[in-house]
Amino acid sequence: MPELTTKTLQEYDQNYVWHPFTQMRDWEAEPPTVITRGEGCYLIDSDGNRYLDGVASVWTNVHGHCRREINDAIKKQVDRLEHSTQLGLANDQAAILAKRLVEIAPTGLCKVFYSDNGSTAVEIGIKMAFQYQQHRGGDAARKTRFISFRNAYHGDTLGAVSVGGIDLFHGVFRPLLFPTIQAPSPYCYRCELCPEQDSERCSRLCLAELERLMATHADETAGLVIEPLVQGAGGMIVHPPGFLKRVRELCDRHDILMIADEVAVGFGRTGTMFACQQEGVTPDIMALSKGITAGYLPLAATMATQKVYDAFLGDYRELKTFFHGHTFTGNPIACATALASLDLFETDRLLESLPPKIEYLQTRLNALEELSQVGNVRQRGLLGGIELVRNRVSKEPYPWEERVGMQVCQEAKKHGLLLRPLGNTIVVFPPLAITLAELKLLMDGIEVSIRSITTPDA
Ligand SMILES: Cc1ncc(COP(=O)(O)O)c(C=O)c1O
Repeated sequence: MPELTTKTLQEYDQNYVWHPFTQMRDWEAEPPTVITRGEGCYLIDSDGNRYLDGVASVWTNVHGHCRREINDAIKKQVDRLEHSTQLGLANDQAAILAKRLVEIAPTGLCKVFYSDNGSTAVEIGIKMAFQYQQHRGGDAARKTRFISFRNAYHGDTLGAVSVGGIDLFHGVFRPLLFPTIQAPSPYCYRCELCPEQDSERCSRLCLAELERLMATHADETAGLVIEPLVQGAGGMIVHPPGFLKRVRELCDRHDILMIADEVAVGFGRTGTMFACQQEGVTPDIMALSKGITAGYLPLAATMATQKVYDAFLGDYRELKTFFHGHTFTGNPIACATALASLDLFETDRLLESLPPKIEYLQTRLNALEELSQVGNVRQRGLLGGIELVRNRVSKEPYPWEERVGMQVCQEAKKHGLLLRPLGNTIVVFPPLAITLAELKLLMDGIEVSIRSITTPDA
């Protein structure tokens, strides 16, 4: 087949593709950039323009694009076995990967239930926690509700949306959702609980409120769902140190299962393999996706402790089986990819290579905070958020309709960067393998773009 021109590809896309989270009328108005190749931390379009991938292709990419070692592992696996179901059969790659995940996960998570995206990983965690309480029986069977956090994001399937807290995305679906007990999100910049932005005080207030909610609702609460350390899509909101550990203690005290959604922060993003490990926390259930295949293929895993798993064991007639599954569960190509990625974590000593990059990011973010159009910067590991405001003193935000964050990202494209904002927060989320020189380019481009789009308020 002859190679298609950029124009043809753009027409195909605009005529036939419906894009996620996109107002398609706007999309149809401008011919899109068509990415056709990847190389290291760069994506290359159909005209040969190179862009630094500043958001790791929606927070997934770890080792850069088209890493030879991962490509080779995929090619090798394709020639051996492309897919075989997990219904009634095992496959070698899924089994080996499960063992490997258990070895690196927070101690105590020992079973792996596969699916194929972050939303399903969370959805499975919710269903597991719910059914777990049913199997315990007695008073525990009344534990049917969930505690979620304001400003949380756990994906777009209905269960995951139910435990989410971003009304802009999900308000319209409210009638389809199950109600949750919503706790305040710590250090949410504009949180009404701590207008002074004193993170310790905020943490205390949020924990006190969480404790009150738990004490009131423990008898009816099956589980709590949390993004550990950082609320991603909510705007890269960083939790104060110790918050997660305290949430774990409260869950224990009130007999509530803790479901940690590490879909965004898992696989090295915050500086350790998993975010929970920074506070010595083992959740009862942990959801993984995105970085699991280093951004190559759809794969997800929901990990559980022995306690959770054991509650599902019984005679078939007791109906304790976890009746949930997806067609591509444990796909061997995806699992082989994940294994190749874990090998690269070791051979590249990737986690060990992060501290200087994290430190550099911190220096650059701190410098940006000096700009009067920057209300707040946030960072944990190799992720950051730069919140743009019209007036820093009054914290007056730019109206969301103005899409100032998007304008900055469009400007950044002219400087060879691909970015995607969260409202008026500019997200920094490069592949972990980014070099210091590339990180400098990224931060230079972001700074220039912010300066040229926003006007300092006197
Ligand atoms: C914390 C978190 N959970 C779940 C999801 C949903 O993952 P997916 O888009 O693969 O369904 C996301 C996606 O951004 C996420 O950030």
